[in-house]
Amino acid sequence: MVKKYFIKTFGCQMNVYDSNRMANMLEEMGLKKATGVKDADVVIFNTCHIREKAAEKVFSDLGRVYLIKQERALEGKDTIIGVTGCVVQAEDKQILKRAPYVDFALGPLRYFRLKEVVEEIFNKREAQLLDTEFSAVSKFDYLPENKAEGGCSYLAIQEGCNNFCTYCVVPYTRGVEVSRPVEEILKEARRLVATGSLELNLLGQNVNSYHGEDANGKERNLAYLLNKVAEIDGLKRIRYTTSYPADVDDDLIRCHKELGKLMPYLHLPIQSGSDSVLKKMNRRHTRDDYLRVVEKLKEANPAIGMSSDFIVGFPGETDEDFEKTLDVVNRVKYIQAFSFKYSRRAGTPAAVMENQIEEKVKKERLQVLQDLLFDYQTKFNKASVGKIMPVLFETKGRHKGQLAGRTPYMQNLYAEADNSLLNKIVEVRVTEASTNSLGGEVL
Ligand code: SAH
Ligand code: SF4
Ligand code: F3S
Repeated sequence: MVKKYFIKTFGCQMNVYDSNRMANMLEEMGLKKATGVKDADVVIFNTCHIREKAAEKVFSDLGRVYLIKQERALEGKDTIIGVTGCVVQAEDKQILKRAPYVDFALGPLRYFRLKEVVEEIFNKREAQLLDTEFSAVSKFDYLPENKAEGGCSYLAIQEGCNNFCTYCVVPYTRGVEVSRPVEEILKEARRLVATGSLELNLLGQNVNSYHGEDANGKERNLAYLLNKVAEIDGLKRIRYTTSYPADVDDDLIRCHKELGKLMPYLHLPIQSGSDSVLKKMNRRHTRDDYLRVVEKLKEANPAIGMSSDFIVGFPGETDEDFEKTLDVVNRVKYIQAFSFKYSRRAGTPAAVMENQIEEKVKKERLQVLQDLLFDYQTKFNKASVGKIMPVLFETKGRHKGQLAGRTPYMQNLYAEADNSLLNKIVEVRVTEASTNSLGGEVL
């Protein structure tokens, strides 16, 4: 019987990339993708530790998988349960205690050992296995060759973060910043395009701090890399995420003017519009620094649409601080954004700061902020009606005969379209719009 695997991914795009690479490894071992946990011989949870809710959900969901494992055991079927990702790194040995039915746990820098680990467990090793080493070796050197995941693929170019924002677990879970060499990235990019990707999204926790070496050992920045990637024939669209405002240099801004393949959309998290909060967050930019960068980007490409992340209720945040965040939103007029209530993370400096904000206040502020953000997002979407946009269809839509894709601005668009248009870029006239999606007709 062919063995099957099921991977559930939590968290950011980096985790999506890692999950895809784990799937590559399992498929090399001859496993096939399962439709759900019930028919899977190997179940992997690739986890996220960023906020308390995300991390706690992992354990409740794992409990459910354990019940299924027991049911399967009654039918004589064995199930291997693995946990990977940032919760593993953060919890370390604790994870095996909190979830004693887990067979293996690999940190985000160690999942390249997956094949070896799964094989060993198939061969009936008894003890649980844990690996959370922050190794000097690059996991990328040990991963199998990947193929396009569809019309749009993620490509990790950088991992880890040295910024140590005081609220954030990422520097502890992903370690220090490491950039992959230019040639290695180009090789992967060419392979992804050759196997069907029209769009590449270059990923990193702090992607614009990229400083990988070229073939001559010279350090190169993200702008250099983007120019090289743009030379790949057959590649139509490039994106990169997530950027740190203080690391946006003039070379990068020039890319938004000169590189036609670079999409007119940038996710540039500010977190807060108040300088005193930004300082306590240990962000290396002020509100004015940020607004200047946005202005320069808009000069480089007047059509650019901005996106951001926001945290409300950071320790010590006053009503005035919060007003300043709303003011930034009114200035930048984001076309999309993600906003969160501050979540206290053990081991981070902000967790022990004075003046933690009450849940009720956080909730109120989040509501006000989101109402404003949704307002701008809806306005932007409504202004798209009547326009003709190139849409990359990525999946089947909710209804039969429908496909779903993305516009250059990352808007979700649904249209009646034949399956043959899947993973293609097609001109679509936008006919309707709501806060979260567009509808259109294929021309
Ligand atoms: N590397 C990216 C993303 C980090 S995590 C960056 O620097 O922008 C994604 C988002 O989660 C962050 O931008 C931040 O808005 C949010 N976040 C991180 N830690 C958080 C916490 N403790 N509470 C609430 N939101 C948090
Ligand atoms: Fe976290 Fe800050 Fe690094 Fe982003 S820049 S990953 S928010 S520490
Ligand atoms: Fe979560 Fe780790 Fe990404 S904490 S947001 S999965 S880097």
